[in-house]
Parts: sequence; structure tokens; C-alpha cells
Amino acid sequence: MKNFVIAIDGPAGAGKSTVAKLVAKKLGFLYVDTGAMYRALTLKAINEKIPFSDEGKLIEMAKNTEIELQDNEMGYKVFLDGQDVSEAIRTEEVSKGTQFVASILQIREILWKMQRDFRERNPLVMEGRDIGSKVFPDAQLKIFLDASVEERAKRRYLQLKEISLEGDLKTIEREIIERDEKDRKRSISPLIRQPDAFYIDTTGMTIPQVVEKIISLYKKSTMH
Ligand code: DC
Repeated sequence: MKNFVIAIDGPAGAGKSTVAKLVAKKLGFLYVDTGAMYRALTLKAINEKIPFSDEGKLIEMAKNTEIELQDNEMGYKVFLDGQDVSEAIRTEEVSKGTQFVASILQIREILWKMQRDFRERNPLVMEGRDIGSKVFPDAQLKIFLDASVEERAKRRYLQLKEISLEGDLKTIEREIIERDEKDRKRSISPLIRQPDAFYIDTTGMTIPQVVEKIISLYKKSTMH
């Protein structure tokens, strides 16, 4: 029997991370933020001054990278080659750069393998863009989280503020729209809503309401 997977996909700022973490905690599942993995590779490319146009070098770099995700009492931490980059991966520079790294098939394949390995040992709540479509098409529960652009920009703005990073609301909104376009239109693994995913529009919903909704869908899906 394969471990249970709750796949949560959706655009940036729909509330995936906050909700996925809480659902994982409630169920005792491992939480996996796949966006953090794309961000970590992007940060490494920036640090090593590898141009985003150099696919060969980026792929080589990805093959030689260790990404570790830790989820414990200390919070959720992302390690890149042994270094804690949990905050460094959240800058706008990294956010913008991810589109290049995320559109390279060989890089996605490297990350898919790491992502699938998590299921060998743990039941998962995994969030991203292609979890229900590519990573785990056989996930037992698929959720597509959405929210209006305005709402998502506001949430991102507050999130940045929380970790003491500056952001301008209008700029964030524009960048979210651009990033949505790129996530949805890229040829490899675009953000799509799977027909078998439950669609939840979180605009105007509180976090506990969204969490409850997912828990109740989980309970229903395990009843038979
Ligand atoms: O969720 P996030 O904003 O941290 O994701 C960062 C970027 O990584 C985003 O532009 C899309 C990309 N991504 C992806 O292509 N596939 C995933 N499964 C997760 C994120």
C-alpha cells in the first residue's frame, strides 16, 4: 500500500503553504514545499553566477546539489548543500528567477525523484504546481487552491513583511500576474487544474476554514 498523499496545487499566494503545514500537523503527515526546492536551485544559480540561459550548466549544477527539508519543533527549514537558506530563498530576485529553472525538464526530473522518495517513508501533504498532475497522479486526495489576484498579492505582501523583507503591493500584484501566466503557459508541467482535484477558492475564507475543508475531504476519502 502506498502512503497517503494529499496533493495541493495552485497559483502563488493562494495560501498553499500555510494551509498545507496546518493540515500536515493535524494529520501527522510530512509537509513538503516543492516550491522551496525550485527556489533553492535558483538561489544556487544566482550565487554561482550561472546565467539562467545556460541550461547545460544549470542541469549540471542541479545534479550536484543536495536539498534537505526539515520539519520539526524549530519550524520548517530548507537546507541547500548543508546551509540554511530558509529566508534567502524568499527574495523577489529568487521568485523571479525560478521560472527559468522550473522550465527545464531535466531539472524537474531531478526534483520529481526527490519528491517521490518522500512517499516511501511518510504519508505526505505536498504542495506545488504539478503535484497532482506529474509528481503523484495517483495521489489519494488532490486539492486545487485558488484566490483572487488582489487577495494573493496582499497575502504575499504580508508574508514578506513578516520576515522583514520590503515589498510594494502593486509591484507584487503585477509580478503575481506575470508569474501566473508563466506557470500556466509553460510547456513543461504547467499549472493546471486536474479534473479529479477538489477546487477551493480561498478568497474570503479564513485559514482554519480552509484547513477544516481539506480535513473533511480527507476523512471522506478514507471512509471507503
Ligand atoms: O510556490 P512558490 O512560489 O514558492 O514556487 C516558486 C516557483 O517554483 C514558482 O514560480 C513556480 C515553481 N514551481 C514549480 O514550477 N513547480 C512546483 N511543483 C512548485 C513550484
